[in-house]
Amino acid sequence: MAVKFANTPGFFAPMRFEAQVDDCIVEGELPAGLRGTFYRSCADRRFPPLYPHDTPYNSDGAVDLFRFYDGNVDFRSRYVKTPRYLAERAAHKPLFGLYRNRFTSDPAVRNLSHNTANTTPIVHGGMLFSMKEESLPTRLDPYTLETIGEWDFGGTLKSTSFTAHPKQDPLTGELIAFAYEAKGDCTDDLAVFVFDQDAQLTNEIWFKSPVVSMMHDMAITASHVILPTTGMVTSMQRLQNGELHWAYDPAQPAYVAIVPRKGTASDVRWFKGTPDQAMLVHTTNAWSEGNKVIMEAPVAGDNFHPYFLRVDGTKSNPSSYYPTMRRWTFDLDSDKDSWEEEILFGGIKVTSFSRIDDRFLTQPFRYSYMLMNDPSLPINRDFADTLAVRVSNAWFRFDHHTGAIEKFSAGETHGMSEPQFVPRHKGAPEGDGYLLGVVNDFREQRSELVIVDATDLAAGAIAKVKLPFRLHMQVHGWWVAD
Ligand SMILES: [Fe+2]
Repeated sequence: MAVKFANTPGFFAPMRFEAQVDDCIVEGELPAGLRGTFYRSCADRRFPPLYPHDTPYNSDGAVDLFRFYDGNVDFRSRYVKTPRYLAERAAHKPLFGLYRNRFTSDPAVRNLSHNTANTTPIVHGGMLFSMKEESLPTRLDPYTLETIGEWDFGGTLKSTSFTAHPKQDPLTGELIAFAYEAKGDCTDDLAVFVFDQDAQLTNEIWFKSPVVSMMHDMAITASHVILPTTGMVTSMQRLQNGELHWAYDPAQPAYVAIVPRKGTASDVRWFKGTPDQAMLVHTTNAWSEGNKVIMEAPVAGDNFHPYFLRVDGTKSNPSSYYPTMRRWTFDLDSDKDSWEEEILFGGIKVTSFSRIDDRFLTQPFRYSYMLMNDPSLPINRDFADTLAVRVSNAWFRFDHHTGAIEKFSAGETHGMSEPQFVPRHKGAPEGDGYLLGVVNDFREQRSELVIVDATDLAAGAIAKVKLPFRLHMQVHGWWVAD
């Protein structure tokens, strides 16, 4: 049966395409010191969803790379050949049902891995992975992007899931990770994992969560792990009823686990916030000061996953609330289970896509970089609906010392992906480097990778790596220096 997709315009249509472009056309001057590889994990359905109300989070994973060397850039793009991808390719039709609900999949594949590997690429211990939070990491060849397979760290990983946002400690080289629903669908088991720089497991801490909730991201300090819940809830009953995995519970308070990296389950402290602190998707950074653990992150008081309904079946109204950048301070000397909150940058409306100069993870820091929606920047009116409502059109640099904000817009018809910070050279001070990321030109239906001086966003792009086609929508990226 021929494949038919519902009519989806432009960049929101599936790409269904693997590509290789060597010696890409470059406009402007590539910085001479820029040597390394930018990986991006993308979501791109190979077959139409079995259920029209499924979420794009359930799309097949694809990984792209841009390799910078000797003034050249090579591009390559490959689907992640998950068991799910291979089963559907063999059947020539979709078999997997709603997002994280096996009961809605074809019985023939119900017990097969539902891993889409579509969220974050990471490189650790010389290995490249593409991650999806309800599954194990999928290992790929870092040069060809061909899929090697799901990876359980040489048999040491006992969880059924693994976060898409592990953190690499820049000072120790360790990889800190966690798993939720760690013993299968809807289980209240959490696990924190510590791996050394060679990806050998050195500590694991298993404990219970007060609620089974989406836990998408984490933060680390030199001594602690911070794990926030997000107000999204699930149950086996929901799954058996044939629903999407998550619903948003507006009454659910925020819970945060603080876990010593070298501790055991008995050292875990749970803190309890309010429902208007619950929607935390990505963290910015965290550090320890004495016995205080301090984290900064964009946080909202209501659901900003538009595809998931509230528990009462109603839709959220994202125009009525927005994330703000907040600083949370957890005092481990206090017996209280609450924390202090400070709203940063005057409560400006932000998004959840927050990044920093990753060399300053675990440490006090000055700059963060964010993908933003800014209707005050020039927008071509023919594309206004798309650019203002459906995609992000700017990168912001936030100065956490002075409160200053700098902006970069790639153009009046351009949508942008999360920025990646790359240091100018190995010993460069914090923030001295480049922002790079893929930009989509909605007028030309073509993508390019732009490079901006991170100390002068207003100056515009230094260089653009032009591709002769459009790319799939990115989730997250990762830079590896040569
Ligand atoms: Fe994410």
